[in-house]
Amino acid sequence: MAATRNSILDDPFYQPADEFFPANNKIGLTFDDITLATLYSEILPRDTQLDTQLAENLRLHIPVISSDMDTVTESRMAIAMALNGGLGLIHYNMPERQQLSEVSRVKNHVHGLIQEPIQVSPEQFIADVLAIIEEKKFGFSTFPVVDAKGKLVGLLSGHVVKPRYAGKKVSEALTPRAQVHTITKKELGRDPIARADKFFTEHIGIHKLLVVDDDDHLHGLITMSDVERITQERKAQFKPARDERHHLICGAAVSATRNAFGELDRERILNHVSALVERGVDVVAVSTAHGHSKGVGDTVSVLRDAFPKLPIIAGNVTSAAGVEYLADCGANAIKVGQGPGSICTTRIVAGVGIPQMTALYVTSRAAAKKKVAILADGGITKSGDIVKALTLSQAVICGGIFAGCNEAPGDIVEISGKLYKEYRGMGSLAAMKAGSAARYGHEKNPAQKVAPEGVEALKEACGSVDRVLAQLIGGIQSGMGYLGAANLGQLYTKARYIRVSPAGQREAAPHDVVELKTGN
Ligand code: XMP
Repeated sequence: MAATRNSILDDPFYQPADEFFPANNKIGLTFDDITLATLYSEILPRDTQLDTQLAENLRLHIPVISSDMDTVTESRMAIAMALNGGLGLIHYNMPERQQLSEVSRVKNHVHGLIQEPIQVSPEQFIADVLAIIEEKKFGFSTFPVVDAKGKLVGLLSGHVVKPRYAGKKVSEALTPRAQVHTITKKELGRDPIARADKFFTEHIGIHKLLVVDDDDHLHGLITMSDVERITQERKAQFKPARDERHHLICGAAVSATRNAFGELDRERILNHVSALVERGVDVVAVSTAHGHSKGVGDTVSVLRDAFPKLPIIAGNVTSAAGVEYLADCGANAIKVGQGPGSICTTRIVAGVGIPQMTALYVTSRAAAKKKVAILADGGITKSGDIVKALTLSQAVICGGIFAGCNEAPGDIVEISGKLYKEYRGMGSLAAMKAGSAARYGHEKNPAQKVAPEGVEALKEACGSVDRVLAQLIGGIQSGMGYLGAANLGQLYTKARYIRVSPAGQREAAPHDVVELKTGN
């Protein structure tokens, strides 16, 4: 006889979501108000899978997204998130042109084959090349040289792209075609990375391999550092999140921009998103504090009509009606959270918002009906919160957890011997003045009278995103192991909840000890 795995004696205490939340429908519950009950398990934490699908063509390998905030996500953060299998949403508190180049930086970060390498012509001067590097903020200085017909003429090595040679022509400084290492597309075969890896091993000191066709037209560039990184990645449990062309995935936030007459500026929104799509953006997020509103719904509809296949995130909402509305407008994933964020004051200022676990339950039921994803946005301070959030959502969005990382925008400041980074709400006065006012329904240049819905704060500097994510992922996998969940789908269906008393909350944290080291 098989050993007993479940007992009906547990059932009155540890309830599944559809019993637990309706039974507690008179009170808003958040992460620390509940705890998850363990279940019989044959699953080791390290074997759990964290893949999550947010839209037909948007899949992450870990269910973690960095928030579209100006002290959290620009290209460095988005690159780090995607390399770890997650996603970064580049904020929109910057000129549109700058946001486009932030997206380009992510999309161009690591390539197996750079299909459209930046090229220079033999007629240009080294000064022109230096100017392009400066303007586009390229992190490299070696370029293939091609003639007007696209034929390879040589390679301009980084060693000669120096101000001292500014007055020389590229044709005088290049390494000539005969000395440049090339390979044809055909020779690359089905596994270009393995082929290129072999080439670099066989050709000591060569770091760039150009791809040409039979007529010597340039078709791409492979670099040794990219090949090494990708070869490493293939061994990692959580692979980088990449598009089908092997570029890192990247998201960008857009706002429901209005014109001078207060009407939705459809043309500007469309032009902005078209340009983002041209740069290869994988998902746009229509980010506002109140997503269940005409402006946000109309923006999503306009984008859905213009870009039928583009994954769209929209929010924020906390009601089933809000999810249904945005799903009907064409959103694929809905941000849930009003006021849970560590820098948010919406609940204090506006008296509005719902504690996050209740909001996630209510919205998740509408999302399941509409076949859209839920993103739990805000209020997450530890990996246990993520495990709880993932029992009702497909991914989490975090701001504060990443704001102290090296990859977040901004400088480290030292105060009384401790290191910090600035972290501010997008509804704080400073952030609204920098451009995010529309997100909170205010004029672009808010005067004194607007009520900020966020604070300006500091986060302790906490090292690299890799390190922070390793801790979070370890915690998520551990939680899944306790629930016998091999993947996020099983976590979603298996979770059972119980409320926690204030004494239970105290019991949950280290107590009655003198702590020498924190958990991480
Ligand atoms: P955490 O808790 O991760 O929250 O720091 C990040 C999320 O908070 C939201 N956000 C705000 N909410 N006022 C608000 O009420 C603000 O100024 C503000 N700024 C950001 C946003 O959803 C973010 O992802």
